[in-house]
Amino acid sequence: MLYSSEIQLLSVQPHWQAVTHPVLAANAVQLWLCGLQSTVAGVSGNKILKLNYPLQSALQQGYAGIVTFGGAFSNHLCAVAASCQQLGLRSIAYVRTEQLDLNNPTLAFCHARGMQLIATDRQHYRLRHQPDYLLQLQQRHPGFLLVPEGGSSADGARGVTQLALEQTPAGKADLLITATASGGTLAGLINRRQSAVLGIAVVKDASLSAKVQQLLTAPQTPPWQLNTDFCGAGYARFSPALLQFCRELASQGIYTEPVYTGKALAGVIELVRAGRIVAGSRLSFFHTGGLQGLDGLLYRRLITAADHALLSGSAAG
Ligand SMILES: Cc1ncc(COP(=O)(O)O)c(C=O)c1O
Repeated sequence: MLYSSEIQLLSVQPHWQAVTHPVLAANAVQLWLCGLQSTVAGVSGNKILKLNYPLQSALQQGYAGIVTFGGAFSNHLCAVAASCQQLGLRSIAYVRTEQLDLNNPTLAFCHARGMQLIATDRQHYRLRHQPDYLLQLQQRHPGFLLVPEGGSSADGARGVTQLALEQTPAGKADLLITATASGGTLAGLINRRQSAVLGIAVVKDASLSAKVQQLLTAPQTPPWQLNTDFCGAGYARFSPALLQFCRELASQGIYTEPVYTGKALAGVIELVRAGRIVAGSRLSFFHTGGLQGLDGLLYRRLITAADHALLSGSAAG
C-alpha cells in the first residue's frame, strides 16, 4: 500500500527506462528516464514526492485538510484531491477559471474525490503568493493547511530530495534533468547535492529562477541551470513536431504528454544535438508523471482520440 500509517510514500519503487534516439546514439549519450507511480490514481511522478511532507503534517497536526491552487487542468489538483481522499482529509482548490466546467475531466476527477472547487478569476488568482491574501484564506478556512500552487513549498522540495535520481541502472548520472514549472522539483534535486542538475522551463516565467533559489537550502549547491529555450509559444502550447516526438517515444513504450515531460525531453535531444550536453554523458531524467493531462488535451480537441490512446499507453498491449 502506498500510504502506511507513517505515510511512507517513498516506498514507491522508481521505474527506469532507457530512451533511444539517433541523436543520443550519435553522441554516445545515455538517457535514463525515472518514473514513479503510486497505487492511487492521479498521484504520480513528482506529486508523490512534493505532497509527502504536507500530507504528513496535515495528518500529524490534525488539520481538516488542504487548501491549494491550480489551473483547470492541473496535475497538482488531481494529486491533492486523490491523496486527500485516500487519507480521509478534505481538500479545497482555488481554480484559475471564470466558471467551473465539471465536464472538464481534470475537474470532474477532483470533484468525484470530494474536492471543493472554487472558481477564481485571474485578478484574484494572481494574489496566490501574497501574504495578506493567504492570511485571508487561512481565516476563511480555519484548520486547513495551505499548500502553494504546484506544491512547491520548502516541504514540497524536501520530498523531492528523497529521490535517488542519480542512481541509474547503469551507474551514477552526470546530470539530472526535470521539466520545471513552479520550481519545487528542480530545487529538491539541487538540494540533494548528488549530481549537476538541469531544469527545462515549460512555462514562460521570468521569476522562475528566483523561485527555485528561494527553495535552496544549502549555500553550496552542485552546478545547476534553468534552461528557458524550449518553452515554445508558452505553457501547454506545443507544435506538431513536438507531438510527433511524443508519438515516437510512445512507439518505444515511453508515455509522455507534450506539456511537461515530452516538451522537456525534446529539449534534451536538442541540447545533445547542439553539443550543449557533453557527448558521452549519462543523463537521468525525472518523468514527473501527469499523463492525466492528456485527457484535458483530448477534451479541448488539442489531440485526437488516437493520439490520446497512443501517448497514454492505452493503445499498447
Ligand atoms: C507532470 C509535471 N511535470 C513537471 C512539473 C513541474 O514541476 P515543478 O512545478 O515542481 O517545477 C509539474 C508541475 O508540478 C507537473 O505536473
